[in-house]
Amino acid sequence: MVNKKTKNQKILITAALPYINNVPHLGHIAGSHLPADIFARYCRSKGYETLFVGGTDESGSPSEIAAEEIGISLDVFSKKLYEIHAEIYKWFNISYDNFSRTSKSIHHKTTQEFFKAIYDNKYIKEGVMNVFYSPTEKRFLSDRYVRGQCPKCGFEGASGDQCEKCTSVHDPTELKNPKSSITGNAVEIRSAKHLFLRLDQLEPKLKKWIAKQKSWRTQVRSIAQGWIKEGLHERSITRDLKNGVSVPLKGYEDKVLYVWFDAPIGYVSSTKELLPNGWKSFWKGKDVQIFHFLGKDNIPFHTIFWPATIMASGGIVNLPNHVAGYQYLNYEGGKFSKSKKRGIFCEKLPETGIDSDIIRAYITFVLPETSDSEFKWEDFKNRINADLIGNFGNFINRTLKFVNGKLGGEVIKPNENEFTKNDKELMKKVNTGVQKITDYLEAAEIKKAFSEAFALSAQGNKYFDDCKPWVLVREDEEKTKKILYNCVNLCRTLAIIFSPFVPNAAKNVWKQIGLKGNVDDPKNWDTAKDYEIPKKHKIGNPEALFKRLDDDYLDNFKEITANAPDLKQLFK
Ligand code: MF3
Ligand code: ZN
Repeated sequence: MVNKKTKNQKILITAALPYINNVPHLGHIAGSHLPADIFARYCRSKGYETLFVGGTDESGSPSEIAAEEIGISLDVFSKKLYEIHAEIYKWFNISYDNFSRTSKSIHHKTTQEFFKAIYDNKYIKEGVMNVFYSPTEKRFLSDRYVRGQCPKCGFEGASGDQCEKCTSVHDPTELKNPKSSITGNAVEIRSAKHLFLRLDQLEPKLKKWIAKQKSWRTQVRSIAQGWIKEGLHERSITRDLKNGVSVPLKGYEDKVLYVWFDAPIGYVSSTKELLPNGWKSFWKGKDVQIFHFLGKDNIPFHTIFWPATIMASGGIVNLPNHVAGYQYLNYEGGKFSKSKKRGIFCEKLPETGIDSDIIRAYITFVLPETSDSEFKWEDFKNRINADLIGNFGNFINRTLKFVNGKLGGEVIKPNENEFTKNDKELMKKVNTGVQKITDYLEAAEIKKAFSEAFALSAQGNKYFDDCKPWVLVREDEEKTKKILYNCVNLCRTLAIIFSPFVPNAAKNVWKQIGLKGNVDDPKNWDTAKDYEIPKKHKIGNPEALFKRLDDDYLDNFKEITANAPDLKQLFK
C-alpha cells in the first residue's frame, strides 16, 4: 500500500466536509476528521510538505429546511453551525490548515469553473427528470422530504427514493400517496429540465483507473468496482433549490448545482482560499499525493463521481491517490441516535473537563478501518486505564519520577562500550518498532500503527522491570543513571511516535523530559529512533499525564454528552 515518495514530496489531505444540519457525534470524528488529522500530523513530523484542508458542506436543502423550521435566516443558521463545528474540531486538536465553507464566493467561483470546463468538454447534457413538487409550499422537494407508501411492501413512511422498511429503491413516480414531510400536504410529480453528467461516457476511463488503484483498501475498491459492474448511467447534477451554487448556463437561472457536484470541489476551494497563488502545487504535478479521508457512505462519491468530475474537467486537478474510506463507528450495539439520546454528542465535550487526548486515543483503538466497530463504555474505561495510562503513561511517569526522586533529576549517556546486552536489545526493538509504525503510517494504517506504538512502550516497561533500577540505585548511582538514560531516551522516542495520536500528552512529555524545541517540529520523526538526549541531561518536573477514568466520573460524562441540543435551542 505504500506509495513511493519523491524528493519534494507534497501531501494533500482532506477530511469529508460535514453537513451543517447537525452537530457531530463521535461517529463523525472517527469517520474522517481524526484519522485525517493523525495522518497529517505524521506527514508534517516526517517532513513532507503537508496541507490538510476541510470545511463545512453548506449547499442543498437540509440546512435550508433546518433554518426554516427554526424561523431564522439561512445565513444566521449556517454561520452559527459553522462556528460550532469549527470549535469542536479545534477542541479535538484537528489540525486543519484551513477549514472553509462551501457558501463562500471562492467556492462558488471554483465550482463554476469546473462546470464550465466540463460543459465545454461536452460531458454535460440536457435531459428531463421526474421530481416532487409541493403546490402548497410552491417549491420542489428533494426525495428525503417526501413520504409515502412503498410500492413494494406497502410501508407508509417510505421516502421518495427508498423504503427504510424493506430497503428497496424506487423511482419517485412509483411512490403511492406522496406527501411533504414538512407540511404533510400532498405533493405531485412534475417533469423538469435538468443537466446530467455523462458518467456513461466516462465509464471506460474510470474502470481502467479504478483497476489500477492497488493501494486502496479492499472495501473501498469493491464498492467502486460494484458501481462499475452495475454500469454507470448519466447522472443529474442540477436541483430545483435556492441554496447552492448557481448554474452558469442560460435557462437554468432558478436551479442550483447538486450538492454532491460542488462538495468535493470544496477541497480545492479551501486550498485556494488559503494559498491563492500556491494552491496548484498541492493539486497538480508528480510531487503531489492526494489523500481523501471519509466515511462509508461517501465512498461512491469519492471513487466514482469526484474522479469522473476531474476527468471530465480535463484534469483541472490530479486524481486522488488514496481514498481512505472508513466504516461506521456504532454505539453500544446500535446506532448513534440523537432522538433516542444514544451516543456521545460532541458539543458538550468541553464541559466534561476530559482531555481530548483520551477520546482521541479510544477512538483510535476502535477506529473502523476495515469493519464497523463500536464505542462501548466498559471498553472505553478499560482501554484508557490499562493501555493509555497503564502502559504508555506508566512508562513515562515511572521513568521520570524515578530520575527525579532517586537520581537528582539527572541521567548520563553510557559510553559506546558501556551499553549492556539488555540496552542493545532495547535499541534493536526501538529500531524495528519505529520502522513498523512508520510503514503503517505511510500506508495510512492508523489503527495498526497505534497498536505498535503501545508495543514499544510495553518494551520500555519490560526493560525497566528487567533492570530493576530501584535495587541497583542502592549500589551504583552512576550506573543507574546510565540505565535510566535508555529509558528517558525512549520517553523521547515515544513522545514523537505518540504525537500524531495524543498531541497534548506528547507535548507534555517533551516538556517533562526538558527538551528544547517542540515534539512536533517538522522532520522530528526521523530522529525518533536516535539517542538524542544530551550526554548529561537534567529532566524537567514529572507529573501524571492522564487522570484515570472511574465509574462516577463516567456516569456524569455520559449524562452530559448523551444530549444533543435541539437546534432550536442554539438560537435562543
Ligand atoms: N457532506 C457530506 C456528508 O456529510 C460529505 C461531503 S464530502 C465532500 O456525508 F467530498 F463532498 F466534500
Ligand atoms: Zn418497502
